[in-house]
Amino acid sequence: MFISFEGIDGSGKSTQAKLLVKKLEEKDRKVLFLREPGGTEISEQIRNILLNKKNLKMTQITELLLFSASRAQLVSEVIKPALLNNIVVISDRYVDSTTVYQGHGRGLHQGGIKGINSIATMGVMPKKTFFIDITIQEMYTRRKESHQEIDRMEMSNDDFFNRVRQGYLDLAKEEPGRFVTIDGKESIETIHQQIWSVVDGMLPVHST
Ligand SMILES: Nc1ncnc2c1ncn2[C@@H]1O[C@H](COP(=O)(O)OP(=O)(O)OP(=O)(O)O)[C@@H](O)[C@H]1O
Ligand SMILES: [Mg+2]
Repeated sequence: MFISFEGIDGSGKSTQAKLLVKKLEEKDRKVLFLREPGGTEISEQIRNILLNKKNLKMTQITELLLFSASRAQLVSEVIKPALLNNIVVISDRYVDSTTVYQGHGRGLHQGGIKGINSIATMGVMPKKTFFIDITIQEMYTRRKESHQEIDRMEMSNDDFFNRVRQGYLDLAKEEPGRFVTIDGKESIETIHQQIWSVVDGMLPVHST
Protein backbone atom coordinates (compact mmCIF):
# COMPACT_ATOMS: atom_id res chain seq x y z
CA MET A 1 0.00 0.00 0.00
CA PHE A 2 1.29 3.43 -0.97
CA ILE A 3 0.24 6.62 0.85
CA SER A 4 1.42 10.17 0.18
CA PHE A 5 1.18 13.43 2.10
CA GLU A 6 0.72 16.74 0.31
CA GLY A 7 0.17 20.36 1.22
CA ILE A 8 1.95 23.71 1.24
CA ASP A 9 4.97 24.34 3.42
CA GLY A 10 4.34 23.99 7.12
CA SER A 11 0.94 22.34 6.68
CA GLY A 12 1.97 19.42 8.89
CA LYS A 13 2.92 16.75 6.34
CA SER A 14 6.06 15.57 8.11
CA THR A 15 4.40 15.69 11.53
CA GLN A 16 1.48 13.54 10.35
CA ALA A 17 3.53 11.18 8.19
CA LYS A 18 5.76 10.38 11.16
CA LEU A 19 2.78 9.81 13.46
CA LEU A 20 1.25 7.45 10.90
CA VAL A 21 4.52 5.54 10.52
CA LYS A 22 4.72 5.15 14.30
CA LYS A 23 1.14 3.93 14.48
CA LEU A 24 1.64 1.38 11.71
CA GLU A 25 4.80 0.09 13.39
CA GLU A 26 2.91 -0.31 16.64
CA LYS A 27 0.49 -2.49 14.68
CA ASP A 28 3.44 -4.59 13.47
CA ARG A 29 3.22 -3.41 9.89
CA LYS A 30 6.36 -3.18 7.79
CA VAL A 31 6.65 0.48 6.84
CA LEU A 32 8.97 2.50 4.65
CA PHE A 33 9.04 6.26 5.21
CA LEU A 34 10.33 8.48 2.40
CA ARG A 35 10.72 12.16 1.80
CA GLU A 36 10.70 13.91 -1.54
CA PRO A 37 12.88 15.05 -3.12
CA GLY A 38 15.28 12.43 -1.75
CA GLY A 39 15.15 8.89 -0.45
CA THR A 40 18.04 7.37 -2.41
CA GLU A 41 21.70 8.38 -2.59
CA ILE A 42 21.25 9.89 -6.04
CA SER A 43 17.92 11.51 -5.14
CA GLU A 44 19.43 13.15 -2.03
CA GLN A 45 22.21 14.63 -4.21
CA ILE A 46 19.54 16.04 -6.53
CA ARG A 47 17.66 17.37 -3.46
CA ASN A 48 20.71 19.38 -2.44
CA ILE A 49 20.87 21.04 -5.86
CA LEU A 50 17.14 21.79 -5.79
CA LEU A 51 17.00 23.34 -2.33
CA ASN A 52 20.37 25.15 -2.35
CA LYS A 53 19.68 28.87 -2.04
CA LYS A 54 22.78 29.63 -4.13
CA ASN A 55 21.14 28.10 -7.20
CA LEU A 56 19.15 31.20 -8.05
CA LYS A 57 19.93 30.79 -11.75
CA MET A 58 17.99 27.52 -11.96
CA THR A 59 15.40 27.67 -14.72
CA GLN A 60 11.87 26.41 -14.13
CA ILE A 61 12.36 23.60 -16.63
CA THR A 62 15.56 22.48 -14.90
CA GLU A 63 13.66 22.49 -11.62
CA LEU A 64 10.86 20.38 -13.11
CA LEU A 65 13.26 17.85 -14.57
CA LEU A 66 15.39 17.59 -11.43
CA PHE A 67 12.37 16.91 -9.21
CA SER A 68 11.25 14.30 -11.71
CA ALA A 69 14.71 12.76 -11.98
CA SER A 70 14.90 12.44 -8.20
CA ARG A 71 11.48 10.77 -8.21
CA ALA A 72 12.27 8.39 -11.06
CA GLN A 73 15.27 7.08 -9.13
CA LEU A 74 13.19 6.72 -5.97
CA VAL A 75 10.42 4.83 -7.73
CA SER A 76 12.66 2.22 -9.34
CA GLU A 77 15.21 1.86 -6.59
CA VAL A 78 12.92 1.94 -3.58
CA ILE A 79 9.14 2.30 -3.99
CA LYS A 80 8.49 -0.43 -6.54
CA PRO A 81 10.54 -3.11 -4.74
CA ALA A 82 8.96 -2.20 -1.39
CA LEU A 83 5.41 -2.44 -2.73
CA LEU A 84 6.23 -5.82 -4.27
CA ASN A 85 7.29 -6.95 -0.80
CA ASN A 86 4.00 -5.82 0.77
CA ILE A 87 5.66 -3.01 2.66
CA VAL A 88 3.50 0.02 3.40
CA VAL A 89 5.17 2.99 1.72
CA ILE A 90 4.57 6.46 3.19
CA SER A 91 5.90 9.39 1.21
CA ASP A 92 6.20 12.95 2.46
CA ARG A 93 5.31 14.60 -0.91
CA TYR A 94 5.11 12.83 -4.25
CA VAL A 95 4.06 13.51 -7.83
CA ASP A 96 1.19 15.90 -6.95
CA SER A 97 3.81 18.32 -5.61
CA THR A 98 5.21 18.61 -9.14
CA THR A 99 1.75 19.15 -10.62
CA VAL A 100 1.00 22.02 -8.26
CA TYR A 101 4.42 23.62 -7.62
CA GLN A 102 5.82 23.45 -11.15
CA GLY A 103 2.42 23.44 -12.90
CA HIS A 104 0.05 25.73 -10.99
CA GLY A 105 2.82 27.57 -9.12
CA ARG A 106 5.42 28.18 -11.81
CA GLY A 107 2.88 28.06 -14.63
CA LEU A 108 4.51 25.35 -16.72
CA HIS A 109 2.42 23.55 -19.32
CA GLN A 110 0.10 21.07 -17.56
CA GLY A 111 0.06 18.59 -20.44
CA GLY A 112 3.85 18.47 -20.52
CA ILE A 113 3.99 17.98 -16.77
CA LYS A 114 1.50 15.12 -16.96
CA GLY A 115 3.75 13.38 -19.48
CA ILE A 116 6.89 13.90 -17.42
CA ASN A 117 5.08 12.76 -14.27
CA SER A 118 3.96 9.56 -15.89
CA ILE A 119 7.50 8.84 -17.11
CA ALA A 120 8.99 9.54 -13.65
CA THR A 121 6.46 7.48 -11.70
CA MET A 122 6.12 4.69 -14.27
CA GLY A 123 2.46 4.74 -13.29
CA VAL A 124 3.16 4.01 -9.61
CA MET A 125 0.56 6.13 -7.83
CA PRO A 126 -0.51 6.39 -4.18
CA LYS A 127 -3.67 4.63 -3.16
CA LYS A 128 -4.47 7.51 -0.80
CA THR A 129 -3.15 11.04 -0.70
CA PHE A 130 -3.71 13.13 2.41
CA PHE A 131 -3.84 16.80 1.44
CA ILE A 132 -3.42 18.86 4.57
CA ASP A 133 -4.82 22.30 3.83
CA ILE A 134 -3.74 25.51 5.55
CA THR A 135 -3.93 29.14 4.43
CA ILE A 136 -0.90 31.09 3.25
CA GLN A 137 -1.27 33.25 6.36
CA GLU A 138 -1.02 30.16 8.56
CA MET A 139 2.05 29.07 6.61
CA TYR A 140 3.78 32.36 7.42
CA THR A 141 2.75 32.20 11.08
CA ARG A 142 4.20 28.71 11.47
CA ARG A 143 7.33 29.67 9.55
CA LYS A 144 7.94 32.57 11.95
CA GLU A 145 7.37 30.36 14.98
CA SER A 146 9.71 27.61 13.77
CA HIS A 147 12.71 29.96 13.21
CA GLN A 148 13.94 27.56 10.55
CA GLU A 149 15.97 28.86 7.66
CA ILE A 150 13.98 28.81 4.43
CA ASP A 151 15.17 26.96 1.32
CA ARG A 152 15.13 27.99 -2.35
CA MET A 153 11.57 26.73 -2.96
CA GLU A 154 10.28 28.46 0.17
CA MET A 155 11.63 31.81 -1.06
CA SER A 156 8.71 32.12 -3.52
CA ASN A 157 6.07 34.86 -3.12
CA ASP A 158 2.44 34.90 -1.89
CA ASP A 159 0.90 34.61 -5.36
CA PHE A 160 2.96 31.52 -5.99
CA PHE A 161 1.79 29.81 -2.80
CA ASN A 162 -1.83 30.84 -3.41
CA ARG A 163 -1.69 29.19 -6.84
CA VAL A 164 -0.09 26.10 -5.30
CA ARG A 165 -2.81 25.84 -2.67
CA GLN A 166 -5.52 26.32 -5.30
CA GLY A 167 -3.81 23.63 -7.38
CA TYR A 168 -4.14 21.17 -4.52
CA LEU A 169 -7.80 22.08 -3.99
CA ASP A 170 -8.45 21.50 -7.70
CA LEU A 171 -6.61 18.16 -7.75
CA ALA A 172 -8.55 16.96 -4.72
CA LYS A 173 -11.78 17.77 -6.57
CA GLU A 174 -10.62 15.98 -9.71
CA GLU A 175 -9.67 12.79 -7.87
CA PRO A 176 -11.98 12.47 -4.88
CA GLY A 177 -11.30 8.75 -4.60
CA ARG A 178 -7.59 9.18 -3.99
CA PHE A 179 -7.50 12.51 -2.16
CA VAL A 180 -8.56 13.07 1.41
CA THR A 181 -8.59 16.78 2.23
CA ILE A 182 -7.86 17.62 5.82
CA ASP A 183 -8.26 20.91 7.66
CA GLY A 184 -4.70 21.60 8.81
CA LYS A 185 -5.86 24.03 11.50
CA GLU A 186 -7.23 21.17 13.57
CA SER A 187 -4.98 19.86 16.34
CA ILE A 188 -2.16 17.46 15.52
CA GLU A 189 -3.94 14.68 17.43
CA THR A 190 -7.33 15.27 15.75
CA ILE A 191 -5.73 15.15 12.31
CA HIS A 192 -3.84 12.00 13.20
CA GLN A 193 -7.10 10.34 14.26
CA GLN A 194 -8.77 11.36 10.98
CA ILE A 195 -5.88 9.92 8.98
CA TRP A 196 -5.73 6.75 11.03
CA SER A 197 -9.43 6.06 10.60
CA VAL A 198 -8.96 6.13 6.81
CA VAL A 199 -5.75 4.07 6.77
CA ASP A 200 -7.02 1.51 9.28
CA GLY A 201 -9.95 0.80 7.01
CA MET A 202 -7.68 0.25 4.01
CA LEU A 203 -5.08 -2.08 5.46
CA PRO A 204 -5.00 -5.58 4.06
CA VAL A 205 -5.68 -8.34 6.58
CA HIS A 206 -2.56 -8.91 8.63
CA SER A 207 -0.75 -12.11 7.72
CA THR A 208 1.59 -13.23 10.48
N1 LIG B 1 -2.14 20.71 13.34
C1 LIG B 1 -1.19 21.56 13.68
N2 LIG B 1 -1.47 22.64 14.41
C2 LIG B 1 -0.50 23.53 14.76
N3 LIG B 1 0.79 23.41 14.43
C3 LIG B 1 1.14 22.34 13.70
C4 LIG B 1 0.17 21.37 13.28
N4 LIG B 1 0.81 20.41 12.57
C5 LIG B 1 2.10 20.77 12.53
N5 LIG B 1 2.31 21.92 13.21
C6 LIG B 1 3.57 22.66 13.38
O1 LIG B 1 3.82 23.36 12.17
C7 LIG B 1 5.21 23.30 11.82
C8 LIG B 1 5.35 22.64 10.46
O2 LIG B 1 4.98 21.27 10.53
P1 LIG B 1 5.62 20.18 9.57
O3 LIG B 1 7.11 20.32 9.57
O4 LIG B 1 5.05 18.87 9.92
O5 LIG B 1 5.05 20.70 8.17
P2 LIG B 1 5.47 20.24 6.72
O6 LIG B 1 4.21 20.25 5.94
O7 LIG B 1 6.24 18.98 6.76
O8 LIG B 1 6.39 21.46 6.26
P3 LIG B 1 7.51 21.49 5.10
O9 LIG B 1 6.75 21.54 3.80
O10 LIG B 1 8.22 22.77 5.36
O11 LIG B 1 8.35 20.28 5.24
C9 LIG B 1 5.89 22.53 12.94
O12 LIG B 1 6.43 23.44 13.85
C10 LIG B 1 4.75 21.73 13.55
O13 LIG B 1 4.98 21.42 14.90
MG1 LIG C 1 8.14 18.53 6.05
